[in-house]
Amino acid sequence: MLAYLNGQYLPQAEIFISPDDRGFLFADGLYEVIRGYNGILFQTKAHFERLNHGARSLRFRTVDFHYLAEAAEKLIRENELREGDATVYIQVTRGAGPRTHYFPHPETPLTVYMAARSFTPHQEDLEKGINIILVSDQRWARCDIKTIGLTANVLANQRAKEHNAQEAVFVRDGVLLEGTHSNFMAVSNGILVTYPKSNYILSGITRQVVLDLCPRLGIPCREAPVYEIDLEKAEELMMVGTTLEVTPVVQVQGHMFHSGTPGPITRRLQKALRELTGRS
Ligand code: PDD
Repeated sequence: MLAYLNGQYLPQAEIFISPDDRGFLFADGLYEVIRGYNGILFQTKAHFERLNHGARSLRFRTVDFHYLAEAAEKLIRENELREGDATVYIQVTRGAGPRTHYFPHPETPLTVYMAARSFTPHQEDLEKGINIILVSDQRWARCDIKTIGLTANVLANQRAKEHNAQEAVFVRDGVLLEGTHSNFMAVSNGILVTYPKSNYILSGITRQVVLDLCPRLGIPCREAPVYEIDLEKAEELMMVGTTLEVTPVVQVQGHMFHSGTPGPITRRLQKALRELTGRS
């Protein structure tokens, strides 16, 4: 597998990152996951804009990463991923330097790593829906930055796995915010509702794509909190993201949600996203 490190293309097995890298020492870095559908990268510009937002927020020395789009496409080509599903993983850290909590020397180059792989969608989850658990949000208050510091997400997702659930949804002050690696949406009184963009959620690219699809499909939508106490009143629940696409939620904490089958609005959004990405 050919990967990218700081301007060079190398077999992944030949890539070595310094133990002094601030990603390793401090999780002082950012990442993105872009989906490839039959060789075409989905929403590349939006992903690099989000990376730029993170880089500005973390005060990285480089804050425009659009130049990486070409390299991402090259990785898809060189790794023969022009057919079927793929992901491109991008990670940028503040670089390698002596271990100090303050920033390293201003000329320290960032570490920029990128790899493309084939991806197998969770077909059964997409078709039948998933079980979610609710967990108290233990993360910091800058969830809008896609940092590689994912300990709270890892612990929550492992807990989901141990409870035979496929995703954990973070709850803060009684509000369902988002999943460990996806955004949360509910349908309530026929309206699609998802938490507004803020420091408490990642502004998901798929979330925005789904919100943009709503008016075209005649589905009313609103950015507002969904409270845990109102969950039973919702008609449909779904998780959305680069890897989950639009995945129906049919169980909450092991209890069947209503009929235990994916709802009609979820299905329509799922289909619309499939069509938008060139699949039928
Ligand atoms: N995660 N919320 C969180 C906390 C996420 O980590 C992600 C994505 C999303 C969905 O965002 P998007 O639609 O842009 O993928 C929401 C990636 C896929 C991951 O960690 O693998």
